[in-house]
Amino acid sequence: MHHELPKLPYALDALRPHISRETLEYHYGKHHATYVEKLNELVAGSDFEDAPLEDIVRFASGPLFNNGAQAWNHDFYWKCLSPKGGGMPSGELAEGLRKSFKTFDAFKSTFTTACENLFGSGWVWLSRTAQGGLAVQSAQGAGNPLRDGHKPLLACDVWEHAYYIDRRNARPEYVKAFWDLVNWEFVAQNWAAPLERHASSGADAAKHAGMARNQDAGEEKRAKP
Ligand code: FE2
Repeated sequence: MHHELPKLPYALDALRPHISRETLEYHYGKHHATYVEKLNELVAGSDFEDAPLEDIVRFASGPLFNNGAQAWNHDFYWKCLSPKGGGMPSGELAEGLRKSFKTFDAFKSTFTTACENLFGSGWVWLSRTAQGGLAVQSAQGAGNPLRDGHKPLLACDVWEHAYYIDRRNARPEYVKAFWDLVNWEFVAQNWAAPLERHASSGADAAKHAGMARNQDAGEEKRAKP
């Protein structure tokens, strides 16, 4: 299966002044595009050749997981942002956040701290857990809550390539700007969508767990001199 670079849901300069056109030219046009390109190179001839991207995120390992998950994560991240974003959620999502974090500000503070403190490159997620609660989760590299059976609702990319052009090393400034762009409508849609695809269970999990083990074995073999 050939994976396409999804279209950005807004113009390259639409997130200004919070995120510049130049950042999106590189982040979307170079980084995201390269993950998709490498994913296509790696998936050809692999056990995941015909698998949907979400299954690669869940069950693959090594470079195929890294590039597949980065492709999925970036597509999700772009949808988490909107030129008309910011503010606060409403309705059932707001109620869910209050249940789990007591107040919206407490949630925002927990998420912000996780973004600022994540060491190196990675992602911070708001997820609906397999148990039905809400959790803020940090993940190194290409990490994604789907691997633990959780449902991603919101993501912040804290790789330096997300902010270095605009903010240099000032990640907290980028995270502050992120809140002015959050597309709460998209987060609410994720919250409201059914959970069935998010609990990795049954034959698919067993089949792909076997694939992942096989792939690991192959990588070990190749790593030996
Ligand atoms: Fe990124």
